[in-house]
Amino acid sequence: MTSDDSHRHKQDRHYKKAKIEGYRARSAYKLIDIQNKFNIFKRAYYILDIGSAPGSWLQVEKKFAEENVEKYNDNFYHRSEYKIMGVDLKRTSPIEEIKSVKMDITNPEFKNEIESFFDDKLDLILSDASINKTGNKFSDHIQQIKLCKYILGLGKKFLKYKGNMVIKCFQGTDFKDFYDIFKQEFKIGKAYKPKASKKKSNEIYLIGIDKI
Ligand SMILES: C[S@@+](CC[C@H](N)C(=O)[O-])C[C@H]1O[C@@H](n2cnc3c(N)ncnc32)[C@H](O)[C@@H]1O
Repeated sequence: MTSDDSHRHKQDRHYKKAKIEGYRARSAYKLIDIQNKFNIFKRAYYILDIGSAPGSWLQVEKKFAEENVEKYNDNFYHRSEYKIMGVDLKRTSPIEEIKSVKMDITNPEFKNEIESFFDDKLDLILSDASINKTGNKFSDHIQQIKLCKYILGLGKKFLKYKGNMVIKCFQGTDFKDFYDIFKQEFKIGKAYKPKASKKKSNEIYLIGIDKI
């Protein structure tokens, strides 16, 4: 980031709001916007957050999971406790009651981490993971789609029937093919650019509701 970029970033409305409301990053508002539109947290107790550092999505997830344990205590699908795991290449500073793993998700060991932490399939998998951008939009896009395919594979293996999923993608040549594959796994599949997502960014989030 140049000093001009850094100045613009600090003037940003969502950056200021995150500071005031205690979120670790402005990205929290992307997840809140997705929630307001798609209600992805409905009855979500077991949650995996991929690309979790510095942790603002984890903060949002914890709030909804805690509420769900209380709110949905009825005869329908319910768990009496929540479990949240965040994973990132970088260290995430600790958040109480949340497990943080510092690892590359493409390391085969990561699947063992998931299995040993959660004693059941997951209700919700969220990925805000993005590759380290090189500035070459084409190759960045291809690398990101490759990562997204891997993440969708984790969803196929670990997400429960009727579970929900969100994956951050970059728009570009291979986006539509991936979107088509993604949609096949869910009753409803949508692509959404949250309001807090910067206009010049080509990021877009795929939302999968009700895994088939
Ligand atoms: C935009 S940040 C996530 C911000 C986070 N959602 C928040 O609200 O604080 C994207 C993260 O994805 C992580 N990431 C990228 N590739 C990864 C991989 N293969 N395994 C684990 N984490 C990865 C990066 O290290 C980076 O911290």
